[in-house]
Amino acid sequence: MGPSGSGKSTLMNIIGCLDAPSSGRYILRGEDISSYDDEGLAKVRNQQIGFVFQQFHLLPRLTAKKNVELPMVYAGISKKEREERAEQALSRVGLAERMDYLPNSLSGGQKQRVAIARSLVNEPSIILADEPTGALDTKTSETIMALLTELNQAGTTIALVTHEPEIADYTQRTIYVRDGQLMDRAHSERG
Ligand SMILES: Nc1ncnc2c1ncn2[C@@H]1O[C@H](COP(=O)(O)OP(=O)(O)OP(=O)(O)O)[C@@H](O)[C@H]1O
Ligand SMILES: [Mg+2]
Repeated sequence: MGPSGSGKSTLMNIIGCLDAPSSGRYILRGEDISSYDDEGLAKVRNQQIGFVFQQFHLLPRLTAKKNVELPMVYAGISKKEREERAEQALSRVGLAERMDYLPNSLSGGQKQRVAIARSLVNEPSIILADEPTGALDTKTSETIMALLTELNQAGTTIALVTHEPEIADYTQRTIYVRDGQLMDRAHSERG
């Protein structure tokens, strides 16, 4: 959590290997990846990180299933296995019946569930969710948070950015970002 412009998305981009820190080291699963080149980072990103965004970032001309298959295309997985795993992931998020729909014919909550299925297919160690409920109503937000909680309980680490305390309450730990610095609740000005 933290004010607009404090650096939350920047932090997520660094954790997600979409951006490189200007100083310091980044240790992921015991490996210093600060020195990796673009190709090395792309591999880490594809294999270890799943992304979920406020605006879903689904490709409009692809069906839900094709959207979910994409990270596996980049990972070089065969068509048959891609289809199987996409179907599994969509069933897991409760969208087995909507696999062949285009994003435009899905509700916001359904789109976000497709995005979560897409984030899961390569079995990442971390899912990064930057304001995943920012474009959703309260009830839909609750179903998305219930789903993320379930995935977390099954063993996936989830780092989530939110402006809403009710959403932060779902997590085990809240970290504050202020002017580019991280701080635990105990050290924030709210005390
Ligand atoms: N590519 C960039 N180059 C230089 N500065 C940037 C870049 N992207 C963001 N910034 C700046 O870095 C700071 C942190 O931005 P960031 O997007 O991480 O904030 P945020 O905490 O995610 O804010 P919000 O809650 O509005 O999403 C801001 O001052 C922003 O203007
Ligand atoms: Mg942001």
